[in-house]
Amino acid sequence: MQVIKYAFQQHGDERGQLVALEEFKDIPFKIKRVYYMYDTAQGVTRGYHAHKSLQQILICIHGSCKIRLDNGKEKKIVTLEKPYEGLYVSNVMWREMFDFSSDAVLMVLASELYDESDYIRDYDEFLKFVNSKDGVKE
Ligand code: TYD
Repeated sequence: MQVIKYAFQQHGDERGQLVALEEFKDIPFKIKRVYYMYDTAQGVTRGYHAHKSLQQILICIHGSCKIRLDNGKEKKIVTLEKPYEGLYVSNVMWREMFDFSSDAVLMVLASELYDESDYIRDYDEFLKFVNSKDGVKE
């Protein structure tokens, strides 16, 4: 499994750092939605779902957290701990977010509006979805 982690351009000077993200330039899709998680309770794991179509970029803009990615065949754990790092999470990818530092702010840039019908929240259903996709010639 290929993990795509961006290191966004930092516009730093003596005043500090600034990162700017533009759709189709820094982000490989049109950004239709932004949401973020903070005040995450210690020991909590969030996510436990995949999406049929949605693509996302995860940025831990403060603090740190870990992301478990699972494409149904392979699993990888990625640490996000810099405000200029972005993890690309494709569609059909099971994700779990954990090990949040108490000051963590995890921001998500999403390619689609919120749509519950795009979620796969059952792991066995996710594996069936992956296997059914394998049968489809691209
Ligand atoms: P949830 O899907 O449980 O978050 P995660 O699984 O990623 O930890 O979302 C928590 C709540 O927020 C749930 O009631 C749905 C709502 N929500 C929105 O209204 N819009 C959104 O864009 C997202 C991501 C969640």
